Amino acid sequence: MKILVTGGLGYIGSHVTTLLLEKSVDVISVDNLENSRIEVLDGIKEITGKQPIFKQLDIRDENALKNLFKDHTDIDGVIHFAAYKAVGESVKQPLRYYHNNIVGLLNLLNSIAKIGIPLIFSSSCTVYGQADKLPIKESASILPAASPYGYSKQVGEQFVKDTCKAHKNFNAILLRYFNPIGAHPSVKIGEQPQGVPQNLVPFLTQTAIGKHPVLKIFGSDYDTPDGTCIRDYIHVMDLAEAHINSLEYLISSKNTSKCETFNVGTGKGVSVLEVIQTFEKVSGKKVPYQFTEPRDGDTVAAFADVEMIEQKIGWKAKYTLEEALKNAWDWEKNH
Ligand code: NAD
Ligand code: WQD
Repeated sequence: MKILVTGGLGYIGSHVTTLLLEKSVDVISVDNLENSRIEVLDGIKEITGKQPIFKQLDIRDENALKNLFKDHTDIDGVIHFAAYKAVGESVKQPLRYYHNNIVGLLNLLNSIAKIGIPLIFSSSCTVYGQADKLPIKESASILPAASPYGYSKQVGEQFVKDTCKAHKNFNAILLRYFNPIGAHPSVKIGEQPQGVPQNLVPFLTQTAIGKHPVLKIFGSDYDTPDGTCIRDYIHVMDLAEAHINSLEYLISSKNTSKCETFNVGTGKGVSVLEVIQTFEKVSGKKVPYQFTEPRDGDTVAAFADVEMIEQKIGWKAKYTLEEALKNAWDWEKNH
């Protein structure tokens, strides 16, 4: 089997690639290296003893993508990660985000829909905004997006659904990730945010190692048991495995409709303070923190209903929050 992974040297794509290679699947990895480094290939090789076929390619370049499919006529499936992902940056640079996340996806759909290569699309819990009911089911309403990034995922989902309807041999799965954290347990690959991280866990590990004097907790007075926001933090290896299982499900035609949507989370809600306390326990480090004003656009609480992916695909998160934070910390210390 041969799988194309776009954004294959990024955070999630690199972890998925290791699992594919370990299953003896051939991987073609494409990445423009805008938010990743070529050295990630070394980490993948150290873990698996193998390397994907790598092409430095920008998926906005339609001809380059078409040529890739001409050169590789035996691709059995695509996992599509290549996109920009920073919510705050997308508010400041909406056109840059729309251009990359939309044009890239359209080019890809143009290359694969007619020939019926199945697709796994990276979507996000961000499409739900603040859901009225917790845990969040896939059937929850999609509220107006709070950011251009979020809108690019809502629109992306719709493009994939419409394309599935129009092409009888084309099937897809939309995976809505909750909050991916952690690193490969070998800590040879992990998350490499550029600049100051906006996400909680990389900022936390960077604070613990001394890169920042203090971690700001955005809001202390939310309507939650300890006043801080609640999220569903999922180990990146669990998330990676969800892709493998989804791909197997799709390729073996177990799907019950042409485009299915699944939440990928642990199903457990954890507060910011609980993350910090758990981190302190597993790392033995005290993390200086202070409460500040809530961050614009933050939802109070979001965690996944994972019944659907468990029942249909047979996937369930295995790693604990402790393991995820320990791997994140070891990665911070080692890389
Ligand atoms: P990442 O930035 O680490 O990985 C994306 C990779 O795609 C990077 O290596 C980047 O260089 C590459 N890329 C970007 N634009 C490209 C282009 N035009 N052509 C070729 N390569 C390109 O991000 P990630 O955390 O691995 O996220 C992967 C996907 O999952 C994204 O679509 C993201 O929106 C989605 N997602 C991420 C999270 C998260 O918190 N990490 C949550 C939900 C959804
Ligand atoms: C988690 C919690 C913050 C940093 C984002 C995207 C979402 C998805 C996942 C891509 C929140 C708090 C954070 C800090 C803090 N990505 N926090 N101090 O916002 O849930 O989700 O990543 O699709 O679309 O929005 O994740 O890690 O930024 O925040 O107190 O320095 O930590 O307020 O409650 P978020 P996050």
